[in-house]
Amino acid sequence: MFLFVALFVVPCVVQTASAVDSSYVAAVYEHKVILNPEPRAPLSRRHALQHMQRNLDIYEEQAALAAQQGAQILVFPEDGIHGFNYTRSSISGYLETIPDPQEERWNPCAEPDRYSNTEVLQRLSCMARRHNLYLVANMADLQPCPLKTDPSSPCPSDGRWQFNTNVVFSSDGLLVARYHKHNLYFEEAFNTQPQAEIITFDTPFAGRFGLIICFDILFHDPTVTLVERGVRQLIFPTAWMNQLPLLDAIQFQRAFSLGANVTLLAANIRNDRLIMTGSGIYTPVSATYHHALRGDPEEGRLLVARVPVLDPLWVGQGIATEERVSLGADSSHCHRESCADPRPPAAASTDPTPYPTFTSSMMYDPFNFVFLNETEGELRVCSGTFCCRLQYKWKTQGQRKELYALGAFAGTHTVNGRYALQVCAVVRCADFEASSCGQEVEEAESKMDFMLEGRFETRYVYPTVLASRLVLEQPEKLDKTADGRVTMKHSNMTGGLVTACLYGRMYHLDNE
Ligand SMILES: *[C@@H]1O[C@H](CO)[C@@H](O)[C@H](O)[C@H]1NC(C)=O
Ligand SMILES: *[C@@H]1O[C@H](CO)[C@@H](O)[C@H](O)[C@H]1NC(C)=O
Ligand SMILES: *[C@@H]1O[C@H](CO)[C@@H](O)[C@H](O)[C@H]1NC(C)=O
Ligand SMILES: *[C@@H]1O[C@H](CO)[C@@H](O)[C@H](O)[C@H]1NC(C)=O
Repeated sequence: MFLFVALFVVPCVVQTASAVDSSYVAAVYEHKVILNPEPRAPLSRRHALQHMQRNLDIYEEQAALAAQQGAQILVFPEDGIHGFNYTRSSISGYLETIPDPQEERWNPCAEPDRYSNTEVLQRLSCMARRHNLYLVANMADLQPCPLKTDPSSPCPSDGRWQFNTNVVFSSDGLLVARYHKHNLYFEEAFNTQPQAEIITFDTPFAGRFGLIICFDILFHDPTVTLVERGVRQLIFPTAWMNQLPLLDAIQFQRAFSLGANVTLLAANIRNDRLIMTGSGIYTPVSATYHHALRGDPEEGRLLVARVPVLDPLWVGQGIATEERVSLGADSSHCHRESCADPRPPAAASTDPTPYPTFTSSMMYDPFNFVFLNETEGELRVCSGTFCCRLQYKWKTQGQRKELYALGAFAGTHTVNGRYALQVCAVVRCADFEASSCGQEVEEAESKMDFMLEGRFETRYVYPTVLASRLVLEQPEKLDKTADGRVTMKHSNMTGGLVTACLYGRMYHLDNE
């Protein structure tokens, strides 16, 4: 089981050649949420408020610390004020009715008497105002809805919507945005709004930001819709349970920011029992992140970083046009010949492979794998017609005591959520059995130079290189071609390789 404790911050900053025109200071807070020990038992508003004020006291301290370091925007995690595992009725005391900032202007700190039962909104608003920063927090919203006799009315039968909600306050305390989570993850206290909301807000220091919450990041709406409308800066409160080898919190945060070419401000909960840790401030060229390790005290962590404002005129093209990007310090471009796949793609699925393949479960999906047994080589493995290719050369002797495999999976993931995938991944196997390939591993010594490539039937491919003990490496080079081929090249690893992955999302097949 993957349970970490040992706190560390690994800032990894790689500057691009082009100077940035403007920048701002962002902060995220990984919060060790104080939980209600009996979330399924009803409690009064007074007791719910007493509980929430304890978390808000910590928010207040962190807002002061962030402001001292010059933060202009501060993000708190999902469920960080109220906690988890309520029922639809037991969460009642925690709910506030949050007015729609698109319909009215309200500064809860300046005008506390406009609405009753809004103590949390008032406190957050005053916090933003007192510390002169934009503040994003997550709370529970109650919206009464008209009960209709019409059975097709979407209003729940008890006449109320209950939403998992992000709220944003400007630096003078004005409520500027409200976003209701669209992709719920086992949250019986909350409703899904029938239509995904696309919510943004504008700031004087960095322009536009878009709002998403936790599980939303894996789906097309609202996340990809925001990016395709030109939103380059996403705010991501989360309560993410880590799962290696492909979906650790920081791993997917890094992958999404790189794949979508956006900045991501990600604030996670810290809770060791629930395997929650991993927050960061990611731009396409830098990452400032935190992931607790085993042995670390269970405590919160504030991250602050100066990041560039991304050009809002650039709209995500995915891989519709050919792109060649050099991300690392090495600016040399690979030559056409050495990058191109010499094999005709049509022959992919029928080609006999010279090495044995096997199937092992990774993240509950049946991946086809081949071992990396040589000191260097070239391998290919397919899942149906989807194929992955790897060129590798070991740089350390670690592989003598560590087994690695290249895996491919094309299909629909169906456990704890349904989403269609095409994935290429190199993983360290947990031991020397084939069935251990795809299991959770967090440490490794083997380093290799490699080129991992897949030909994807989607433009949405999220790349990452994860090294030993939850260290992220910036892939040296990513290439995307118009025909869907994505290539990730990396060398001179600083740590042993845990996972190198191209995570393709086939959003268009999710509902089939
Ligand atoms: C919430 O429920 C899940 C599943 O029942 C359980 O594993 C988890 O420990 C619970 N969390 C809390 C905070 O009680
Ligand atoms: C990412 O966006 C920048 C503009 O901010 C653009 O110059 C660059 O080409 C984009 N990179 C990719 C891989 O699309
Ligand atoms: C990797 O290290 C080798 C040997 O030190 C060096 O020649 C090469 O330029 C490095 N490559 C990159 C991409 O940094
Ligand atoms: C690679 O190594 C594994 C583990 O030692 C072994 O089971 C497998 O047969 C080897 N495969 C090849 C192609 O040598």
